[in-house]
Amino acid sequence: MKKPISLLIFLALLLSQTIVFAQKNSTNEAQKMKVFIDGLMGKMTLEEKLGQLNLPASGDIITGAGSNNNIAQKIKDGQVGGLFNIKTAQKIHDVQKIAMEQSRLKIPLLFGMDVIHGYQTEFPIPLGMSCCWDMNLVEKSARIAAQEASADGICWTFSPMVDIARDPRWGRISEGSGEDPYLGSQIARAMVKGYQGDDLKKNNTIMACVKHFALYGAAEAGRDYNTTDMSRIRMYNEYLPPYKAAFDAGAGSAMSSFNEVDGIPASANKWLMTDLLRKEWGFNGFVVTDYTAILEMVDHGLGNLKEVSALALKAGIDMDMVADGFLETLKQSLDEGKVTQKEIDQACRLVLEAKYKLGLFDDPYRYCDVNRAKTEVFTPKNRQVAREIAAQTFVLLKNDNQTLPIRGTGTIALIGPLADNRENMPGTWSVAADFAKSVSLRDGLKKAVGAQATVLYAKGANFVSDPQLDARISVFGKSTQWDKRTPAEMIAEAVAIAGKSDVIVAAVGESSEMSGECSSRSEINLPENQKDLVKALLATGKPVVMVLFTGRPLTISWEKANVPAILNVWFAGTEAGDAIADVLLGKVNPSGKLSATFPQNVGQIPLYYNHKNTGRPLADGKWFQKFRSNYLDVSNDPLFPFGFGLSYTTFDYKNLKLSAPSLTADSKIAVSVEVTNSGKYDGAEVVQLYLRDMVGSVTRPVKELKGFQKTFLKKGETRTIEFTLTEKDLRFYNGDLKLVSEPGDFKVFVGTSSDNTLEAGFTLK
Ligand code: BGC
Repeated sequence: MKKPISLLIFLALLLSQTIVFAQKNSTNEAQKMKVFIDGLMGKMTLEEKLGQLNLPASGDIITGAGSNNNIAQKIKDGQVGGLFNIKTAQKIHDVQKIAMEQSRLKIPLLFGMDVIHGYQTEFPIPLGMSCCWDMNLVEKSARIAAQEASADGICWTFSPMVDIARDPRWGRISEGSGEDPYLGSQIARAMVKGYQGDDLKKNNTIMACVKHFALYGAAEAGRDYNTTDMSRIRMYNEYLPPYKAAFDAGAGSAMSSFNEVDGIPASANKWLMTDLLRKEWGFNGFVVTDYTAILEMVDHGLGNLKEVSALALKAGIDMDMVADGFLETLKQSLDEGKVTQKEIDQACRLVLEAKYKLGLFDDPYRYCDVNRAKTEVFTPKNRQVAREIAAQTFVLLKNDNQTLPIRGTGTIALIGPLADNRENMPGTWSVAADFAKSVSLRDGLKKAVGAQATVLYAKGANFVSDPQLDARISVFGKSTQWDKRTPAEMIAEAVAIAGKSDVIVAAVGESSEMSGECSSRSEINLPENQKDLVKALLATGKPVVMVLFTGRPLTISWEKANVPAILNVWFAGTEAGDAIADVLLGKVNPSGKLSATFPQNVGQIPLYYNHKNTGRPLADGKWFQKFRSNYLDVSNDPLFPFGFGLSYTTFDYKNLKLSAPSLTADSKIAVSVEVTNSGKYDGAEVVQLYLRDMVGSVTRPVKELKGFQKTFLKKGETRTIEFTLTEKDLRFYNGDLKLVSEPGDFKVFVGTSSDNTLEAGFTLK
């Protein structure tokens, strides 16, 4: 007995020594950084300090012979802190050289980019990514993105976007992780870890920028850049957790959002940027605005550029993206006593600290090794990982009569505007992708079936029937390949090839730019002309598989009722076509689960699983009930709920057990459930745990996700899945915005989706 105890004591001592050492080390590092930056700032003029706060767009930077343009001159004059959306190690090297050799103080520039879901190897759009419910994969995708971006000169990414979104009309729901604060927080953490690794100074890690702080996803009516307004208690419990999780994970920077919070635009909101972010949460990185957000406060009605720039600085903004407000006006505001030297110094210090943390003062060309890009970007290995990850994000929404997987023999009719369109595969915000190299579904399917099957192709329909709308949804080089034929001619061609086939794969949905920034929709259906195509294909009597491309939940009630199989593939990145073929042919069994509710119609929005009960809930959930909270014309049910997703196999849940009937502040409850793969295929299942706090000092949601585990089960295999609950899992922000748990009864739900669970209960003492 003696030995293990002494061993334990030894280990405990070692651990405490290691912690003390690590703490000392980080204090030393912080001290070293302070001394360095104090020294540098001691030499800086006011103008040079303001220059560090300036992030212009890189649009007109020309290097080499043309380096005399406006931005280059500003760099020489010390008026630029960083640039963004400029790429290649060579180009960035040349621009950095201007700062290092021709500016007075030789302060290196930051180079940022919207590396949102991969660099040149694109992974699924974030909404798709969030449906894999596998944090290792999320982290891995961010790691590869950082590896590739840093090999091409970039050291700072404007990601992760962690805005909770409950309104699928909002096009930017595609850029986030959906509606749930718990899942969103896990993903935020994994992304930051993936980008930043364990050492920001390494040349293959990049700094994360958490955006858009805050509440951008709550734009009224789902219209981009629109007003937001919500109670503090909702912010704290439902919208803020993912941002906090990202900061707690060490994210080095944040981006202010365009919208207002409590009537004050985020970029001028002192409560948000200073009281909450820095004082309450202890964030010590820097805050950059979103694109021209300072200038936009003129239109918000807060004053002229000089006034709003002063407001932004005073609120706690450190860097001005594109508005030129800090550079052009802060000197005058200082002279007039509207801002203080201390405020300018503080912002400048935080920007310089970011550069220090990235190791740019040691080696400004750290990310500019031109040889790295040749071997580290868009590599076969990275593409293979992207293909594997993509297949994990697809959500099987329907599969009657085991229509899927299809056989890779005979004749397959591949039809639809997304069947043979490479540029629409990667998805919105694929800034570094080379569209010509992405894999279309036609490429992928043909390769996968080889000589075993014939793949016949017809476009069948344009994305939309209105050419003006088509022009709006085919921007950024992502052509929709507008077909001049009439809808009837296109459908006739499609039906003719369908008639010669054994199975029809209909690749339909949104174009990549029908979601993303400034791509809000008031109707979120499958465009009518595509629906007509699907109807015509169904009328052939052949089995139809609908492969649905989308950047948002869609109202596809008719499709759900009529099409036998629907596989939602979001926008799956550069390897989309291969990954989709893997799943269609059954090489990979789909296991994705929705991270955002699909409503039945637009009128139900916002519709989310973790809503409140109201004082008049439906008795037994049955629609319609007079004087109860429901609609005359549609039930309260979602079309597909949060957490939903089928598999080619089936999973049975039984024996939900709790290790104890009650919980105390120091105890734990083990929640276990037996899950059996009862179908014909091996497959993965996301086991989900939800809680309901039955009585609270404030109203509590009917259900909240508190845990999940993705587990792989061979056919016939049974596994016991265990979760541990502690008092911490029961905490929420009460009416005083204090994080508390309250004694009383709780319900536990464990199951395959938010609406299909086993139930048990316990009491918090
Ligand atoms: C977007 C941000 C993005 C920035 C820089 C803005 O329009 O809202 O998400 O990071 O542009 O490209």
